[in-house]
Order: sequence, then C-alpha cells, then structure tokens
Amino acid sequence: MSTILVKTATVNYPVYVQPRLLETLASHLRQVVGEQRSIYVVTSPEIWSRWGHLFQGSFAARKVEIVPLFVPAGERFKQLKTVEHLAEKMVLAGAKRDALLIAFGGGVIGDMTGFLAAMYMRGIRYAQVPTTYLSQIDSSIGGKTGVNLRVGKNLVGSFHPPIAVFIDPVILTTLPPKELRSGAVESVKAAVLGDARFFAWLEQNMTSLLAGDQEDITRAIETSVRIKAEIVSADERESGERMLLNLGHTVGHAIEAATRYRTLLHGEAIAWGMIAALHLSVARSALSPAEAKRIEELTFRLGPFPRFRATAKVLLDRTAGDKKHLQTAQRFVLPVAIGKAVVVEDVTQQELLAAIHSMLRTMKERGV
Ligand SMILES: NC(=O)c1ccc[n+]([C@@H]2O[C@H](COP(=O)([O-])OP(=O)(O)OC[C@H]3O[C@@H](n4cnc5c(N)ncnc54)[C@H](O)[C@@H]3O)[C@@H](O)[C@H]2O)c1
Ligand SMILES: [Zn+2]
Repeated sequence: MSTILVKTATVNYPVYVQPRLLETLASHLRQVVGEQRSIYVVTSPEIWSRWGHLFQGSFAARKVEIVPLFVPAGERFKQLKTVEHLAEKMVLAGAKRDALLIAFGGGVIGDMTGFLAAMYMRGIRYAQVPTTYLSQIDSSIGGKTGVNLRVGKNLVGSFHPPIAVFIDPVILTTLPPKELRSGAVESVKAAVLGDARFFAWLEQNMTSLLAGDQEDITRAIETSVRIKAEIVSADERESGERMLLNLGHTVGHAIEAATRYRTLLHGEAIAWGMIAALHLSVARSALSPAEAKRIEELTFRLGPFPRFRATAKVLLDRTAGDKKHLQTAQRFVLPVAIGKAVVVEDVTQQELLAAIHSMLRTMKERGV
C-alpha cells in the first residue's frame, strides 16, 4: 500500500492508496483513530447500495455501530440546508464531540461532509473515502470544504483537514466512463504543471487506464495525489504555489458559469480551459508549439468534450468575476513546458480574449 503524507500548519494526515482497501478499512481506520464506538457515514443511496456491504463488512467483527446518513446525489444538494439536516440527524442519533464522520462519495459528499465536520459542535474529526476519480485525486486532498450558495459555487466553507484519506481504486469500476475521463483531465493537468515523467507515462498508458486497467489507474491516482499533496503541503491556504493547481481553471470556471453548470462536467470544462491556456502561452512565446501540441493531443484523448454555446466576450467577462472593473491585467497560470507552469500577474484582457477565440475555433473542429 502506498502512503502519501499531506502536511498542514497544524497537522499531517496520511493518504492511503490501495486496490481493495475498502475491504480492510476498519483495521486501517483503527490504526489512525483507535477504537470508535459509532461512525457516521455520509453517503448517497446509490453508492451505499453498490459498496455499502463491503464498507460495513470490514467492521463486522468489531463492535462498531455504522450509522449511514444519506444525501441525494448531485451538485444541487451541496447546500447549507443539507448540512443542517445532516447535523440534526447526528444530534438525534446521539453524536457528541468525539464522533467520527466519514465521507463516502464523490467530491460533493466530500466537500459537504468536511464542512459538516468543521461546524458540528465547533469541529469534529472526519475521514475521506472518495469514490470518484476526481475526488480521489483532487477534492479529498487539501482540506478545503464547503457548500454552494444560490449566487455562486463554494462560497461558504472552511479549511478542515481530514484525519486520513482512504483511496480504493476498485470503487471506480462502477463509475460512469464519462466521469472517469472527466476526472482524468485533472491528472493531465497535474502532469503538465508538475511532472514531465508522469506526462510521458500518461501518453503511453492512457488507453489502458481508460479501459479500466487496475494497475494503471492505481499508479495514475498515486502520482496525481503526490503532486497535489506536495503543492498543498507547501502552501495550504493558497497564497502562492497552490495557485498552480488552477491551471486551466480561469477559463474553465468561466465556461462552467456561462453554461450554468449544466452542459459540461467539471473536467470537461477544464479541458477547454487548458486549451485556452496553451494557446495563450504559445502566443506569448512562453511555451513551444510542439509541446502545446503534445498536451493538446493527450487532453483530447479524454474527449470528445461537449461543445457549448457562449461568446468569447461573455467568457472573458466571466473570467474576471466580480473584480472586472478593477482589472486590466489579471493573474493567470501559464504552462511553460511539459511539467512546469508559472503564475503570472500580467495577462491582459486582449490576450485572454484572443486565447478564448482560439479555443472556440478549436472547439468547432474537435468538440461534439
Ligand atoms: N475541496 C476541493 O478542493 C475540491 C476540488 C475539486 C472539486 N471539488 C468539488 O467536487 C465536486 C465534484 O466532485 P465529483 O466530480 O466527484 O462529483 P460528484 O460527487 O457529484 O459525483 C459524480 C457522480 O458520480 C456518482 N458516483 C460517485 N461515486 C460513484 C461510484 N463509485 N460509482 C458510481 N457512481 C458514483 C455520484 O453519485 C454523482 O452522480 C464539486 O462540488 C466541486 O466543487 C472540491
Ligand atoms: Zn478542477
């Protein structure tokens, strides 16, 4: 089993990656937190019906009460009201300050459970057992928790690191292929911004990874987690280096907002956002056209990505968010080589607009 340590200002926590880890979860958990009388598991009915028996089975020999707390699947339930309901259910079930929560689901459940743990009785412990590719390599690592407001995503939240993250790649066997491909965009992103060898490995192994090869998926997860863990360990609160993880996200988030989060999965929007970032970087001669081409080709192997309807002007306005009147130049993550990205502060509106136009042209050729 590989163990990756994430360091924060106050605590360090381990991320374990191993196929079939779910079957031995109870003993691994005990090593981290000791004996526990009750464990509250936030999950969805779908995930519990597919994987709950293995989850519960690992605790069968111990006197641990497993209390599932169900939330419906979907981003639209990632809201304060759901957290309030969960907290009330916990009170009624007798959960005290020493209670342990486990997030057993994708990023939506992970973010919500982390937030619930941060708030419940002013803060209790929680562990992550992520079940989507995206949550295994991205959202479960780094301690960011939160929920959406009607006026915007992830606007209420807190930093609350889990006590441990348990990743079982076998759980991904029931994940819809589109979710796997979309999540894998974040692996390509991680390789582009920080690991040229991983990038070359992905070029070699992407086909078998997407076909579900267990060994390759496990290796891709481990490496992606390691890249994110190193970055967030160096910069927990996103003051500098953590910004690099936003590669492709300036334009990607603009696309998600402009299409009201309905047309594309997160990774699909980020794929288009990365194309814009590549074009911008090549236009200022910060990245060679040959390397940009390799990144583009690897990214498109995760497609085809849906086309969307939005003008370049609308997307440009969305990239500035609510700060648009303040800015003529903005912060941007520039890929400068395969394996290296930098944060710059001087990207002009004209440059960004040109890059968005160029991305939209590519979409006409390569979107579905
Ligand atoms: N905290 C962070 O740092 C961070 C980083 C990135 C993204 N996020 C958040 O993560 C969320 C997206 O996470 P996601 O992509 O995991 O989406 P998700 O949690 O909505 O899961 C996607 C879908 O897959 C289903 N599913 C989950 N696991 C499954 C399995 N093993 N088999 C079959 N179906 C399964 C879910 O029910 C859901 O319908 C967003 O809310 C985003 O804001 C947070
Ligand atoms: Zn992302």
